[in-house]
Amino acid sequence: MYVDPANVPARKPVTVPGLHAMKAAGRRIVMLTAYDSSFAAQLELAGIDVALVGDSLGMVVQGHKSTLPVTLDHMVYHTRAVARGLSATLLIADLPFMADRDVPHVLEAGARLVGEAGAAAVKIEGAAPHILDAIAALTARAIPVCAHLGLTPQSVHKFGGFRIQGREQETADRIVAEAQTVQAAGADLLVLEGVPTALGERVTKSLQIPVIGIGAGPHCDGQVLVIHDMLGITPGKRPKFSKDFLAGRDSVAAAIAAYAADVRSGAFPAPEHCFN
Ligand code: KIV
Repeated sequence: MYVDPANVPARKPVTVPGLHAMKAAGRRIVMLTAYDSSFAAQLELAGIDVALVGDSLGMVVQGHKSTLPVTLDHMVYHTRAVARGLSATLLIADLPFMADRDVPHVLEAGARLVGEAGAAAVKIEGAAPHILDAIAALTARAIPVCAHLGLTPQSVHKFGGFRIQGREQETADRIVAEAQTVQAAGADLLVLEGVPTALGERVTKSLQIPVIGIGAGPHCDGQVLVIHDMLGITPGKRPKFSKDFLAGRDSVAAAIAAYAADVRSGAFPAPEHCFN
């Protein structure tokens, strides 16, 4: 469907402080991935709060088995394309594998994704000491950071697959502690992926910053999905935590609008999308 920018209802631009205000007001945040300008325009049309150019593009766009082959150049290319399709939706871009190896590389990546490509913030996986340094360094340069904990896909080989994290008390406690440290380092947002519902609730309640869940239960401050999963076009089995919003609807626009409505009302995720 062609999206004429003139027909997109005007909204106030979504900002990082605005997302904090949404958490304070108990208004759920809707985040969705996008990798190109046409899909970005669909997100804009549906009034999605945050577009994420995820390194999941390595899997759903490039056809790899993991996110690890994605490079900074790929991220810059896709972020620029998405930025052209957005106006009010906030744009976050992923730091790809190894772009976080030390502070100089992180700052270079942040400069390219924000300065060159048009992102408003960057997302970084983990809470290891060098990641905390990276979060602090980016924050000191006024680049907002979205942290990412739980099932962090760049650690797929360490986890032995895309496995739910935090099922044991010890790992659950570690994830709660990591969430505190990324917030203390300066992170403005947290994506929490692939953890039991009770842990999603615990982390969300323990932080001041908004927590956006994916497979982390209904108690998070918002939800994010990979757009190919929620349109039912990811090859193979759909992840349990996702839902095909295109099924029974006649357009991508209707599917994205239904996703946004269900996140805002709390109807998504339902118990069948959660881990206990
Ligand atoms: O890369 C990505 O799309 C992500 C989301 C799944 C949160 O990190």
